[in-house]
Amino acid sequence: MLVLGIETSCDETAAAVVKDGREILSNVVYSQIEIHKEYGGVVPELASRKHIEKISVVIDEAMVGSGVSFSELQGIGVTRGPGLIGSLLVGISAAKGLALALGIPIVGVNHLHGHLSAIQLEREDIAFPAVALAVSGGHTSLYLLKSPLEFDIIGKTRDDAAGEAFDKVAKLLGLGYPGGLVIQERALLSRNSKFKFPRALMEPNNLDFSFSGLKTSVLRQVEAITGTHRERRPGSFHPLVSEEHRHEHEQAVSDIAGAFQEAVVDVLMYKAVMAVKMNNCSQLIVCGGVAANMRLRESLIQAGVDNHFEAIFPSIELCTDNASMIAARADFLLSQGIMDDLSFDAKSRW
Ligand code: KG4
Ligand code: ZN
Repeated sequence: MLVLGIETSCDETAAAVVKDGREILSNVVYSQIEIHKEYGGVVPELASRKHIEKISVVIDEAMVGSGVSFSELQGIGVTRGPGLIGSLLVGISAAKGLALALGIPIVGVNHLHGHLSAIQLEREDIAFPAVALAVSGGHTSLYLLKSPLEFDIIGKTRDDAAGEAFDKVAKLLGLGYPGGLVIQERALLSRNSKFKFPRALMEPNNLDFSFSGLKTSVLRQVEAITGTHRERRPGSFHPLVSEEHRHEHEQAVSDIAGAFQEAVVDVLMYKAVMAVKMNNCSQLIVCGGVAANMRLRESLIQAGVDNHFEAIFPSIELCTDNASMIAARADFLLSQGIMDDLSFDAKSRW
C-alpha cells in the first residue's frame, strides 16, 4: 500500500510517502527550531502559524521526492495526538482535504504509537512480546508490545518527560534550546564527577519515572556555581560571570551536563532492564527524540549484552519527529480495516 503520512504535533512540519509500511520513498521534515529557539521552548501560536505556512510545501516536496502521484496514493495517516491542538489541527485539516479530494481512506494515528512503529521501517524481526521505551520531549513511558495492535503502558513519568528535563536543564545552564544534543556534546567535555544528582523511584518493581527532583537539584547546583562565579556589572541587571571565573565556570557547566546526563541514562537503563526482565522479553525497542542520545544508546546496548536481550534503536532521523513513522503505523491500521471518517478531532492528550 502507498501511504502518505503527515505529522504536525509539535514544531516539525513533516510529510512522507511509505510503501507497504516498510519502505520510505520520501521523508521531508521542516524543523521550526530556529523560530522557537529565541523563546527557549516551543511557542504554540507561532508553531501553528508556521505549520499553516509550510504544510502544502512539505507535502508537495514529499510527493515529488517519492515519485508517486497523488492518484496513486492508497491511504493517508495523520497524527491525531497527543500534541499541541493548534498544530495538530493544521495537519489533520490538510490530511482530511486530501483524503476527501482523492477519495482514499484516512486514519488518525497516536503520535507515540508512531514512535513505537519507527523501528519497523528498518527491522523486520521484531519479536512480540517486546518491551519499548518511548522517550521524547513530551513522554517517558515503558510499553509492553504484546502484538502489533496491542501496546500496553507499563510505566510512565509522574512529572517531567526525559526530553523535557534535557531541555529545562540546558536552559538553566544557558545552553539554549533544544537541550538534548547540546547537553550530549557538553557532557563529552566533562572532566570530573564532583556533581552527583539524584535518581528517583529506584525501588524494585516500580516502572514509573520522575525527573522533576533531578531538575531542581541541577537548579540548586547552578545557583551555587553562578553565585560563586558571577559579578554585578554597574548598569547591568543580570549578574555576569566574571572573566576571572569564565574558564572554571564553563568547565562546571560541562561537568553538570555530564552528571545530569548520567543520572537520566542510569534511571532509563535501570527501569528498561527491569521491564525486560519482568516480562521475559528478548528485545528492547527504544524510540523518541531522547533515543538519539549516544550515551543512552551505548549504555542500553551494553545492558543488553549483560542481561541477554537486544536493545534496538531506529536511526537518528527516525528517532526524532517524522512522518514516515506515522505512515508506517497508518499502513498497519488501514491494513487491519481500521480507519476514521472525516469528522475525527485532534486530541491534545491521548
Ligand atoms: O520525539 P521528539 O522529536 O519530539 C517529541 O515528540 O517530543 O523529541 C524531542 C526531544 C527534545 O526534548 C530533545 O531535547 C530530545 O528529544 N533530544 C535529545 C537528543 N536529541 C533530541 N535528548 C537527548 N540527547 C539527544 N541527542
Ligand atoms: Zn515525538
